[in-house]
Amino acid sequence: MIDLAGRNAAIQSATPEAFTALRPAFCERMGGEPALVRADNTYYLRNPDGTAARFNLCVFPNCGAACVLCDLWVAKQLRRKGVGGLLLQLQTQVARRCRMHLLLCTVRQRNAAMLHLLEQAGWAAAGSCFTNPETGNTLRLMCRTLEGEPIA
Ligand SMILES: CC(C)(COP(=O)(O)OP(=O)(O)OC[C@H]1O[C@@H](n2cnc3c(N)ncnc32)[C@H](O)[C@@H]1OP(=O)(O)O)[C@@H](O)C(=O)NCCC(=O)NCCS
Repeated sequence: MIDLAGRNAAIQSATPEAFTALRPAFCERMGGEPALVRADNTYYLRNPDGTAARFNLCVFPNCGAACVLCDLWVAKQLRRKGVGGLLLQLQTQVARRCRMHLLLCTVRQRNAAMLHLLEQAGWAAAGSCFTNPETGNTLRLMCRTLEGEPIA
């Protein structure tokens, strides 16, 4: 039986540590001193004028060596400054620190920005596209293995 709560707690303690290491890069790209705030498995980067970015990171329910990224979002005025790439780097470092060897996420096929971001960071499509019957969106399952990579 996978200790989901324990694994998610490990992610929750590794995230602020990894954020501290990347803080100078976030400050430079965001032009301020963002604070990291957590609500359940969602993490918010807040500037004095409001939420600037967010992401969700949690353990895959059926495999303790895999984690799932979702809800990566950067405020419009901060896009294309490298913040999304840094958030992906942060999530990857957290996963490594938690000894996870697979990252997973689903992306809309038409989301060029997110697909570019992931492919640039070494992610690849797993299998064919599929349709979410509730939304009609065409999605891709994207993944990246971390096995053998050093912990930052
Ligand atoms: C996807 C998202 C998080 C990217 O954030 P970002 O801070 O703009 O990303 P970065 O600045 O790190 O850009 C990373 C790369 O993607 C490229 N990129 C950004 N927007 C792009 C677009 N609309 N089309 C193509 N490439 C794009 C950048 O040029 C950069 O590539 P480069 O280094 O080769 O120039 C942001 O666009 C966003 O919040 N979108 C809405 C929410 C969303 O779709 N989330 C994904 C859910 S799965």
